[in-house]
Amino acid sequence: MPEIDYQKILRRIKPSESEYSEVNDLAVNLISIINSVAANNNIDARAVLVGSVAKDTWLAGKADIDIFIEFPLNTEESELKDKGLFLGYECIKRMQGQYELRYASHPYVTGLINGFEIDFVPCYSIKDSSKLKSAVDRTILHTEYVKKKLEEEQKDDVILLKKFMESIETYGSEFKVGGFAGYLCELLVLYYGSFTQVLEAASDYWHYGYIIDLENFNTGSGFSDPLVVVDPVDKNRNVAAALTIQKMSEFIIASRNFLENPKEEFFSKKIIKYNVNLIKNGFNKRGTKTILLVFKPPEVPADAIFPQLKKTETSLKKIIERAGFQVYGSGYWTDQTNIAIILLEMLVWELPIIKKHAGPYIWSKKHQKRFLDKYGSNAWIENDQWMVDIERDYCDVESLLRDFLTPKNIKHLKSGKHVKEEILNHVEIVDIDHFINSIDDEDLLLKFLYEYINKSGNIWR
Ligand code: CTP
Ligand code: MG
Repeated sequence: MPEIDYQKILRRIKPSESEYSEVNDLAVNLISIINSVAANNNIDARAVLVGSVAKDTWLAGKADIDIFIEFPLNTEESELKDKGLFLGYECIKRMQGQYELRYASHPYVTGLINGFEIDFVPCYSIKDSSKLKSAVDRTILHTEYVKKKLEEEQKDDVILLKKFMESIETYGSEFKVGGFAGYLCELLVLYYGSFTQVLEAASDYWHYGYIIDLENFNTGSGFSDPLVVVDPVDKNRNVAAALTIQKMSEFIIASRNFLENPKEEFFSKKIIKYNVNLIKNGFNKRGTKTILLVFKPPEVPADAIFPQLKKTETSLKKIIERAGFQVYGSGYWTDQTNIAIILLEMLVWELPIIKKHAGPYIWSKKHQKRFLDKYGSNAWIENDQWMVDIERDYCDVESLLRDFLTPKNIKHLKSGKHVKEEILNHVEIVDIDHFINSIDDEDLLLKFLYEYINKSGNIWR
């Protein structure tokens, strides 16, 4: 096996000494500001540094500082929210940063201070997860667990693993990605020992439903996800719950490829060149027909938009196939502000007017009568069943779509409420050929279209 110089890679992907001290000094500073503002206002709360900055496992240039503001368990929820947000605002104000209110399971404040993104998240102080009141309460326990267990050298393994995953776009547990969370990377390194040992395990013996249970809680069989990693601080949670089978598979394949032929390039994103013409020709060559539904994305958080788009895509496919057409492939994309699209690539998009409609079996006299009352001499017999040729409602998929996405029929579409509203408000149904002329070469949408016709292109081989 060719040797690979991990130290060389680490010099590029690991934060420098000056980055470590800049980030840590800022974090210490922010925490002391929050604690003193709390003391001056008689607020019973304490700021704690969590996430990858607390664990020294962030990637160079990617420090997002996660600060949790802990309140006693008996604090009213509304008080926790108000006072937590107040402390975050005050701290950002003093540091002359910009702030923004966001929502996860509950509201938190994000600030941009000295070029760093800082999350201030109010939470309850818990000693063990049985006292858990909200999803974020575990985070402090996660941080303590990793800080206690992860050896100094293993921090490098975590950084290598995160970068390896980031390069093939399997890093991040948000719905948009459906990949591996940072905490999951840390647990994998803790469990298997090192970066290469994680890759070896994934290549050799991971399978659907594979269970990792660091603290031997024996609760793994209660989950039905592609990968189960029982949270060492909460036996009832699967840390890998957000990982899709797609991203798990991609990671396994990349691991096999890397171990067979380890190369430094696995720790960088593949640079892929594309332009409007390349994509246009790519779609044309396929001989299918690709239709896009174009509308405005709803103004809701990313965690809400992406699942709604996925649901809409799935439901449209069902509606189309029930009408006799065939979908070859599909996808969705949004920039989250101006444009959302659902892509439908059609294998069969036109059908003749005639449609064979099955009636009752001839054995039932009663059912035969009803059928013949309706269709009379048009009905005919095929083996032991009545049949009739009728006219199809829609002979091309576009007219089906145009008719379904109207106030009268949209109830048949299963999509999220917000996406449905936007579609009703305005939707364009366009052919890819027509649409692509309106995009310029810089648009991120092109990347989505390119990847649609060049699947698994970002996996190093
Ligand atoms: N967390 C979690 N489950 C998730 C996402 C986050 O439990 N799906 C918790 C983890 O304890 C994590 C913390 O929230 O450490 C902060 O989240 P995030 O910033 O996404 O992860 P980091 O570990 O900080 O990794 P990085 O920022 O380097 O991606
Ligand atoms: Mg983080």
